[in-house]
Amino acid sequence: MKTSAESNNNASVARGGHSNLVARRPIQIFFIFFVGFALMFMFVYNYTSPVTIPVFSQYFIAPTTTIDNDKKLENVLRNASMENNTVIITTLNDAWAEPNSIFDIFLESFHVGIETEKLLDHLVVITLDEKAHARCQALHPHCYQLETKGTNFTNEAFFMTKVYLDMMWRRIEFLGTVLELGYSFIFTDTDIMWLRNPFNRFYDDADFQIACDNFNGDSNDLNNLPNGGFTYVKSNEKTIWFYKFWFNSRSIYPRILTQNVLNKIKMNPLIHDINLKIRFLNTTYFGGFCQISKDFNEVCTMHANCCVGLDNKINDLKILLQDWAKYMKLPDKRKVEAHPSWSVPQSCK
Ligand SMILES: *[C@@H]1O[C@H](CO)[C@@H](O)[C@H](O)[C@H]1NC(C)=O
Ligand SMILES: *[C@@H]1O[C@H](CO)[C@@H](O)[C@H](O)[C@H]1NC(C)=O
Ligand SMILES: *[C@@H]1O[C@H](CO)[C@@H](O)[C@H](O)[C@H]1NC(C)=O
Ligand SMILES: *[C@@H]1O[C@H](CO)[C@@H](O)[C@H](O)[C@H]1NC(C)=O
Repeated sequence: MKTSAESNNNASVARGGHSNLVARRPIQIFFIFFVGFALMFMFVYNYTSPVTIPVFSQYFIAPTTTIDNDKKLENVLRNASMENNTVIITTLNDAWAEPNSIFDIFLESFHVGIETEKLLDHLVVITLDEKAHARCQALHPHCYQLETKGTNFTNEAFFMTKVYLDMMWRRIEFLGTVLELGYSFIFTDTDIMWLRNPFNRFYDDADFQIACDNFNGDSNDLNNLPNGGFTYVKSNEKTIWFYKFWFNSRSIYPRILTQNVLNKIKMNPLIHDINLKIRFLNTTYFGGFCQISKDFNEVCTMHANCCVGLDNKINDLKILLQDWAKYMKLPDKRKVEAHPSWSVPQSCK
């Protein structure tokens, strides 16, 4: 994607023509100074947060992600999309795609969940290497291989290593592209079990909705601790801007996780100014091992968060699906009365 962005820039410079270019330069320089000065003025008078300044200027200086003119991606998205241009997206590398690993358990959850099986028609699996791609194609109709030059995402990307961080940032950049192509999405980590159709638990008025490690009871409160593993984002100018802003803040916070960067930028006055509506999802419906969704009659998704290590996740997610299968076997009346509880986390503790 970088390459196509760069070549687009070159093309537009070339189109400017030789003689024009010379005449334009002083105007451009003047314009840059003018904008720079105006921004400085704004910062000094409005925003005193030391965090704001570099993030904002970065947004203007760094080359922004341009629409990746990838017909293949558009085809996959169009083919998987619901009528209202919405898709479900997950990313997959080889370690998670191996037989009996996370991907199998993930797909299984859609088959045993309530009104979730038909959602598989709208699931796009973004594969990060060739092996994961081959495995995806063997199991699922909508796979798209994301090319990333110079990076190898094949192995288990250990939490917080450089490869892990690269993978997370690449994901933010890619999801921004999806929004630019006009598709809204639910992004879901593959270690999230889909047990109920989540659509009627979303807020109608929100542009960006995100699950939480810990939900504090107020879905509007920016102090909630979000988990980037599950988001529902509507495609519009505000969210497209927001994903660029988020991605470009990487250079300010190179060593921290995308979702922690989100924690730093979520209070940014610019986000308030563009009127991006953020809501945090209730763990009663969108739970995980950090904060369990206790009620089997309400749960939509369960995330193997607060859990490090692939084997631990696999172990506990399998047990989780066994708990769910027992619940599903109950007659409807007993389902309401039984109040079962999860026997996980175990290995994930
Ligand atoms: C569209 O999806 C169907 C399955 O849902 C698949 O058979 C077909 O090959 C896909 N077409 C493209 C162009 O991806
Ligand atoms: C990525 O790493 C795997 C395992 O180390 C290796 O088999 C594969 O060839 C690598 N792929 C590339 C493109 O370097
Ligand atoms: C999009 O369509 C799905 C499936 O019909 C529905 O559940 C969802 O609420 C729709 N989203 C919006 C924003 O209308
Ligand atoms: C979260 O969901 C539970 C169960 O429906 C409800 O009791 C609680 O009020 C919800 N919290 C918020 C803030 O919506």
